[in-house]
Amino acid sequence: MVQVSRHDIVIVGGGGAGLRAAIAAAEANPKASIALVSKVYPMRSHTVSAEGGAAAVARDDDNFELHGFDTVKGSDFLGDQNVIEYFVEQAPKELALLENWGCPWSRNEDGTVSTRAFGGMTIKRTWFATDKVGFHMLHSLFQQSMRYENIVRYDEFFVTKLLTEDGACKGVAALEIRTGDYHAILGRAVILATGGAGKVFPFTTNGAIKTGDGMALAYREGVGLKDMEFVQYHPTGLPGTGILITEASRGEGGYLRNKDGDRFLVDYDYGVGKKAELGPRDMISRAIIQEFEAGRGIDDEHGLHAALDLTHLGEAHIMAKLPFVRELARTYVGVDPVHEHIPIRPVVHYMMGGVDTNIRAETDMPGLYAAGEVACGSINGANRLGSNSLTECLVFGNSAGVHSLDYASGADEGNEASLRGQAEEEAARVDSLRGSKRGDEKIADLRVEMNRVMEEGCGVYREQETMKIAEKEMHEIRKRASCLHLQDSSKVFNTELVAALELMNMVEVAETLAVSAAHRKESRGAHTCRDFPHRDDQTYLYHTLAYRTDDGPRLDRKEVALGHWEPQERKY
Ligand code: FUM
Repeated sequence: MVQVSRHDIVIVGGGGAGLRAAIAAAEANPKASIALVSKVYPMRSHTVSAEGGAAAVARDDDNFELHGFDTVKGSDFLGDQNVIEYFVEQAPKELALLENWGCPWSRNEDGTVSTRAFGGMTIKRTWFATDKVGFHMLHSLFQQSMRYENIVRYDEFFVTKLLTEDGACKGVAALEIRTGDYHAILGRAVILATGGAGKVFPFTTNGAIKTGDGMALAYREGVGLKDMEFVQYHPTGLPGTGILITEASRGEGGYLRNKDGDRFLVDYDYGVGKKAELGPRDMISRAIIQEFEAGRGIDDEHGLHAALDLTHLGEAHIMAKLPFVRELARTYVGVDPVHEHIPIRPVVHYMMGGVDTNIRAETDMPGLYAAGEVACGSINGANRLGSNSLTECLVFGNSAGVHSLDYASGADEGNEASLRGQAEEEAARVDSLRGSKRGDEKIADLRVEMNRVMEEGCGVYREQETMKIAEKEMHEIRKRASCLHLQDSSKVFNTELVAALELMNMVEVAETLAVSAAHRKESRGAHTCRDFPHRDDQTYLYHTLAYRTDDGPRLDRKEVALGHWEPQERKY
């Protein structure tokens, strides 16, 4: 029996973007009822693990033009310039607002907000709260959200389907993980804020919960996934676990070294040279891989890696600006960065692609909005600049909250019986998965295979042949994921069932990624093809869109919104 509840807006995801959207909507109309549905308790959302900072113009020597151009150039000219202009203008307001809500931005001696250098940014514009920025931001947002009685939380509810009527989104069907019961949570508008899909790769900074859920929800209902081929590798993850060692380490003056102890980035002549450790992530990740390939990686009990050297910064500076980096390095690799180098390697960090949205965070489906990493607006194009994404969650979370509320005020509620019927069908589908013996496929085996295929086919460097293999193998793996052999038929906290549903989301998303990547026969931003090493604006200056069919993604394209920043060679 499905339980039905009704709200004005339903937000899926309780991290930075979801909470910001909820606050915006709750504030704009105190009478509106806002459902906040989250797979985990909101303070466990992945935003909490962000470290280095959030970008916004703060200093007298900075301005929107500079932040805008850095972002456009960082995107390798695939970002939509109207959206980027809106983003940089809204950014300072959002970060100041967050301070009003309690976020303890680090300060200069004179009391002004302190900003640090980040890769690809020409000016220090990354606001920070030591190196636990996500934790402080999420705390501030969560506590602020609790002021509003019209925000109704559904913690540990896993949304498995969007409910639609006449092509418009009218709510969600969700599994209550604690009880195993099913719910139809109805609303006249729905916002997806579920984050990215880093877990389709084996080495990632992403938490276990980032399984592409929102992307898969939209994709199954016919909404396009945009620019899925662009996957960001962060240059400095810990080997083994993938735990993030923040770019702020380099912003504060850290060096990357190879096995000979050389600061190798200063020698790279394809752009990073002058910026060295403060180059953009795509270029630094490639440089590290090239060092490995040239035999200059360090190979020891941590596997093949490079070294992050903070020893010259001194203990006082590290404790003032990077205390969490020290804690992580000590705990997870047994290294004290005050005295020793930290082993690092490129790890998957962020999906530039996602649910196709516009400047108002709207998708093509009436009533469906998306914000944060799940969405592709697109400010990040082919490569995101570090510290733009926390700000992106706030700017477009706010936008989604306001615009969805506006839409909801003129939209009808939909036919409750029909929406309940859809949720009942979904409940029956998911129920039939519990302990199901549809085949002999194991969740863990398929996950490992998917991870291998994606790393081999769609890693830092790609080739037509390997991407085509990934496309074919992901197609097979997606099909095999419908033949799972599950053991647990219980209702309460059936984590095996949740893992199965997550796997089904990941394989959909991974397939769009492989297909979109194989299609783009050029190198742009994070999409680096050895056999097509140059950017080809003549042929590929467009967004890819992937639409679901049973036979695999169907690709389409969308124009890039160009503006006054003309495409040029990307040099740093
Ligand atoms: O390195 C970092 O602190 C990551 C920041 C980001 O991805 O924006």
